Amino acid sequence: MKPFLNSTADYHRRHLESLGWELTVCAMLQQPSSPCRRILMENGSYGSHLDAFLARHLDWNGVRRVLEVGGGYGHLMRDLLTAHPHLTAVMLDISPLLLDRQRETLGPDAAEFLLQDFFDFDVGRLAGFDLAIFNENIGDFPALCGLTAEVLGGTGGGTDLETTRCLIRDYGLSLPDGSFVFNLGAALAVEKLCGARIPALFISEHSCEAVVPAAYKAFMHLPSSGRPERIRLKGHDEYTIKFSHLERIARAMQYECWRGPYADFLSIEWTDELRFIMTSGSGRDEHEAIRQFFEDLYRYEYLLLLKRE
Ligand SMILES: C[S@@+](CC[C@H](N)C(=O)[O-])C[C@H]1O[C@@H](n2cnc3c(N)ncnc32)[C@H](O)[C@@H]1O
Repeated sequence: MKPFLNSTADYHRRHLESLGWELTVCAMLQQPSSPCRRILMENGSYGSHLDAFLARHLDWNGVRRVLEVGGGYGHLMRDLLTAHPHLTAVMLDISPLLLDRQRETLGPDAAEFLLQDFFDFDVGRLAGFDLAIFNENIGDFPALCGLTAEVLGGTGGGTDLETTRCLIRDYGLSLPDGSFVFNLGAALAVEKLCGARIPALFISEHSCEAVVPAAYKAFMHLPSSGRPERIRLKGHDEYTIKFSHLERIARAMQYECWRGPYADFLSIEWTDELRFIMTSGSGRDEHEAIRQFFEDLYRYEYLLLLKRE
């Protein structure tokens, strides 16, 4: 197979009508009545949990300008602005429909709204932010598919392939056997953000390197091949993320890295009810939702990157 670039840009610009088909963890926790909130130690939205987690690593009083890329319906930023009214927020999204939804959620004057592909965003402007958030969107970024060691060992083949060769060589990224996919957009995004020296970066997505803790191995099995896998969604495909590559790029660019599953900041309360839900195979809608949510807490990883002084 000849290498080809998977892009979701056209889908997001022209065809996306709703995020209903790709229920994010943020969306699962949005409603106060969400059954998923019941299994958490603290009943709260995704944004309130992330806010508390970030407060363990950074001083919110020192954060002024925040950029959120791909903010979906805007709920995460709404929570952050409610908790920290001194913040100046910029919402950047490639989808006109979702940017409108963000404007509705936040109010037209609560942030600056930029309709743009992140890869076209000026790197000089990036340098003005104290914090940038990429929540469950880097799987949408371009992925270079159909790669092999032989193709990578050759020369030419176009800009995407040549850029991939440079990234793999410059950062010493490991390569799997056989045919594989490279998270080209995600790698370039981390390089661009770290190159702009933004003090704090939060990035999260569906991982291809998920690890289930020993205590929960009897209750869930997550495929974790270590290679980006295709996820077929309405109107587009996205790819799971090889976080070890992104971590390696960030460390090489002098960032400290915290990496882990969502369960690090969405702490579970392990109860008899949860054990029943995870073992009974109950078909109740609410139980299905909780099973998916519980698995997502390990299926999704985050990277928190802090610039070294
Ligand atoms: C799956 S949604 C995640 C929404 C939200 N962050 C959440 O967690 O619920 C992906 C978001 O990224 C945006 N997006 C995808 N590719 C983008 C790009 N190249 N530049 C800017 N935004 C992009 C989409 O329009 C959408 O808002």
